[in-house]
Amino acid sequence: MICEILKKVSFKEKRFFLRVDLNIPILNGQILQEFKLRAIIQTIDYILSSGGKIILATHIGRPKGLFDSKLSTEIILEWFKKNNYEIEFESDLEKAKEKSLENSQTILLLENLRFFPGESEETLSSETFNVRESDNESVKKDFAGKLFDLADIYINDAFGVSHRNDTSITILPKLFDKTNRTIGCLIEKEITNLNKIKKNPEKPFVVILGGNKISDKIPVLNELVSKPRNECPDSILIGGAIANAFLDESEIAQEILNKANKKNIIIFLPIDKIIIDDKYVDIGPKTIKEFSNQISEAKTIFMNGTMGIYHNKDSQTGTKEILEAIAKSKSYSVIGGGDAVAAAHMFNSLEDLVFKINFLSTGGGATLAFLSSKDPLKELPGLASCLE
Ligand code: 3PG
Repeated sequence: MICEILKKVSFKEKRFFLRVDLNIPILNGQILQEFKLRAIIQTIDYILSSGGKIILATHIGRPKGLFDSKLSTEIILEWFKKNNYEIEFESDLEKAKEKSLENSQTILLLENLRFFPGESEETLSSETFNVRESDNESVKKDFAGKLFDLADIYINDAFGVSHRNDTSITILPKLFDKTNRTIGCLIEKEITNLNKIKKNPEKPFVVILGGNKISDKIPVLNELVSKPRNECPDSILIGGAIANAFLDESEIAQEILNKANKKNIIIFLPIDKIIIDDKYVDIGPKTIKEFSNQISEAKTIFMNGTMGIYHNKDSQTGTKEILEAIAKSKSYSVIGGGDAVAAAHMFNSLEDLVFKINFLSTGGGATLAFLSSKDPLKELPGLASCLE
């Protein structure tokens, strides 16, 4: 089953605004990870082969309404050219409107949407702009209107940002007629695969959480342990910086532990750590063994975030061995989040890791929000604005 939802769109209208999530790691102008680029190709090919013209748009980083050459989408133009796509870059929305009407099948790549003050929910309330809430709303509306002028049909394939209220994710699609807005092949694939672990996951269901972004992850963890018993994990293995919130016994962590306890969900925290220069950089060997035992018995596994600072040789063993344990297990396994997916690719050569994991999700926070919400098609703003 591929692109079933997109098939329902009328391709009589030719201009497609395709919102994607190409928030990818870039260093010195070099793309460090192509995973998210490859993930949107199916939708791009589908639209092009059906005779559509694509206005391609993404955010990169969090530039808060200001230009930053290191985060320009122009950097990713070469990748498309290298892969034989006819593509043109345009940073001016007026010129983009003219080009969108030209009778050619060239992809038109817009500049990083978060360079425009109307895009991100936090942009205008930031110190830089310091404007009133009502002005904020009108700037967003105005920006949405300019993007609306570029296309006849809106497609959201930006799964990774569908939990956010960015203008191009929520306000823009609503300007299109209901029959002219929908989701792309990538989001359809994400929903299908994530539902396999969301609805009645085969037990034991083990969730592995790591990385930082603690303020994003703790509320989601709270939601996760509040779900009906058949959807809840049986054990949660916590590494990375997020483990500190539990080891420090913060109030919210205590609440999560109490809820988990009542439902017989076992939360495993690191029992030993690797410390370098007084900093906790990885889980220790005893923890790796304990976590690996849990993983070997699981029938369903979800991992988000890494166990430590995985790019450094001295602090990558935890992440590497946990990923290998997942690859060896007989479970249905899903990994989400930029770092966990990047780590899986980084350690791939040893065990063919990437191919032994059933599904690599392009979402980090979005995947967690999807799995922990009651009804993601209504609760994730980017999905609701296209599918309701
Ligand atoms: C991601 O990389 O997780 C998404 O692109 C969302 O980015 P954000 O957290 O900056 O909104």
